[in-house]
Amino acid sequence: MHCLVTGAAGYIGSHTVRELLARGATRIVAVDSLERGHRRAIEALERLAPGKVRFARIDVRDRAAMSALMREERPESVLHFAALTLVGESVRQPAAYWSCSAGGTASLLEAMRDAGTERLVFSSTAATYGIPQSMPITEDTPQQPCNPYGSAKLACETMIAEEAEAARRDGRAFGAILLRYFNVAGCASDGSLGEDHDPETHLVPSALQAALGARPALEIFGTDYPTPDGTCIRDYVHVEDLASAHVDALRALRPRECRAFNVGIGHGFSVREVLDACERAVGRPIPANVAPRREGDPPELRSDPARIMRELGWSPRHRTLAPMVESAWRWMQANPRGYDDR
Ligand code: UFG
Repeated sequence: MHCLVTGAAGYIGSHTVRELLARGATRIVAVDSLERGHRRAIEALERLAPGKVRFARIDVRDRAAMSALMREERPESVLHFAALTLVGESVRQPAAYWSCSAGGTASLLEAMRDAGTERLVFSSTAATYGIPQSMPITEDTPQQPCNPYGSAKLACETMIAEEAEAARRDGRAFGAILLRYFNVAGCASDGSLGEDHDPETHLVPSALQAALGARPALEIFGTDYPTPDGTCIRDYVHVEDLASAHVDALRALRPRECRAFNVGIGHGFSVREVLDACERAVGRPIPANVAPRREGDPPELRSDPARIMRELGWSPRHRTLAPMVESAWRWMQANPRGYDDR
């Protein structure tokens, strides 16, 4: 396997590179602008597989640089993670999200065409479904995003599906798989990689930062939702299981087809259940305050992962919160300032 990975210095991108290497990748071209990604994540990957990782600091929107790199490397496949990923930020800066997601994907698809690279796995999101009428969410649930992050990701999905349609008409071999992630948590089990966002807004690292004293308390956004304990329910998937879904997708990818799959465990946990799991991992109570609802948060998001299990043979190794929060806690204790490379 010779793969080009965009966003390789980010949270999910770096964990997926590690999984690709563990499952036989011979060469990884790791592309990242380092605007949000971490040079130290790339260094960790270089240490895991000396000589197999080439890092290129490029913004995917730089079509000329991407084309030149792809023509030189001729990777068999591309995994495209590079994007901005904060829902709240996307509401404040929609154009930045469209530029990065849609602009980046358009540039990448053109560079792939230039180089004759025909296989793409795309990092999409459950945010493309918006606030669905019914649970669980299948791939046929209508996609009605309710924020610019989700709308721009949906535009990328459409663009990629249209490329596959064009390939069918033109007899090219281009094919793609779109993976719609639910909530991702945890860190590499060997402690080599972790989660480091600035600002950090995700639930698990925010709770653990409160445990560490790096923030005064976890804010629980809303306790008056129509759920059993009043807090929001999400479907959490371990980052290592998500990474392995990408390798399964690469193996199952077929020319001239564009298939979409949900990646979640099919079970929801409430904010309070996540906080309890974090307290168990940490071994002491975590300071937490009830705060108002966060705008745009649906009460429940839970996947039906039947299609990815059936068609790709994927199944999550972790179906409980403990391994996710324990691995995250180990990494945070060992790296209290994250990658500390800013
Ligand atoms: N939450 C809190 N306090 C916090 C942080 C989060 O109570 O400090 C709650 C949120 O209100 C939500 C849940 O914890 O109910 C999970 O919130 P996250 O911010 O961790 O994740 P989201 O569900 O908002 O979003 C995640 C990804 C998105 C993706 C979405 C798809 O971050 O990129 O899942 O379901 F679009």
